[in-house]
Amino acid sequence: MLDITIVAFAHHKGGTGKTTSCLNVAGYLQKDGKNVLVVDCDPQANATTGLGVNPEALELSMYDVFMTVFEGFPDVRISDVIVSTASGIDLAPATLDLVGVEPYLYGIEDRAGVLKEALDQVKDAYDFILIDTPPSMGQFVINGLVAADHTVVTLDPGTFALRGMEALSMVFGDVREMLGKDVATDFAILTRWKGSDDPAAGSGGLALFLKRIFSPASSAEEEKERERLKAFESEVRKVFKQVFTVPYSPAIYETQQQGLPISHYAPESGAGREYRAIATALLERDGKHDEDV
Ligand SMILES: Nc1ncnc2c1ncn2[C@@H]1O[C@H](COP(=O)(O)OP(=O)(O)OP(=O)(O)O)[C@@H](O)[C@H]1O
Ligand SMILES: [Mg+2]
Repeated sequence: MLDITIVAFAHHKGGTGKTTSCLNVAGYLQKDGKNVLVVDCDPQANATTGLGVNPEALELSMYDVFMTVFEGFPDVRISDVIVSTASGIDLAPATLDLVGVEPYLYGIEDRAGVLKEALDQVKDAYDFILIDTPPSMGQFVINGLVAADHTVVTLDPGTFALRGMEALSMVFGDVREMLGKDVATDFAILTRWKGSDDPAAGSGGLALFLKRIFSPASSAEEEKERERLKAFESEVRKVFKQVFTVPYSPAIYETQQQGLPISHYAPESGAGREYRAIATALLERDGKHDEDV
């Protein structure tokens, strides 16, 4: 399989939905019959636990893959650390000791390309590799962006509380400076979104209608918030080629507890349908839609 697609999920702020989006997009791609690898590059190991794997029970992880580049550490290939999960998605798991890798990386020149080189070894085995990155602008995010063909930036309603698009442009500026290349602003996902006109989104629809009747004061505030988010949404649409809005959905938390993506647990939920659409957009972008499904 030569036409592999590698996607990094990134945003420097914590809790914007990177891991959730990575796992759920992976789930739909897997359901479409694709061979999918999720690479957990976050010491928090949320993608690992989110796929039902206990980091503490692992003998090898991405820590060993990164440390291979340093003298005195065993030669561990990424294929040695990959485990299969209940969903059918393969996982290159993370453990907390990944934290210890970053200081080492600063000591070598080609620190940004370690992950790319490791993934080159397993490219033939997968149709899609999805990389989950931590909330920082550190070496793991940089490694993810260097290895990826596409970047998915996840944004939540709180992302814009302080500096809005200004902060986002700054991140791209930083990356451009560090990598000497532009980050492809292909996809943005607005997660837990309540600003869309879609009546199914967030507290819209019937819930909002009832609030308007029974609690006009809080409804006015909510209306204001929705207006604010709508304005940001249109700003985001100017920057990214495709923007998706994933509504708040309690099913997301439940799926994570089950160690399964939403595609394998609650595909008909509002969030599930939107993640389905995102996976389809990725398939179409790379012309893989009807291929060997
Ligand atoms: N659409 C959604 N509906 C409801 N809850 C959601 C939704 N998307 C994400 N969440 C919840 O929001 C929290 C943060 O999501 P997630 O862990 O995916 O963010 P993250 O960007 O990976 O965080 P970190 O920066 O810490 O890695 C999680 O508890 C997740 O269950
Ligand atoms: Mg995460």
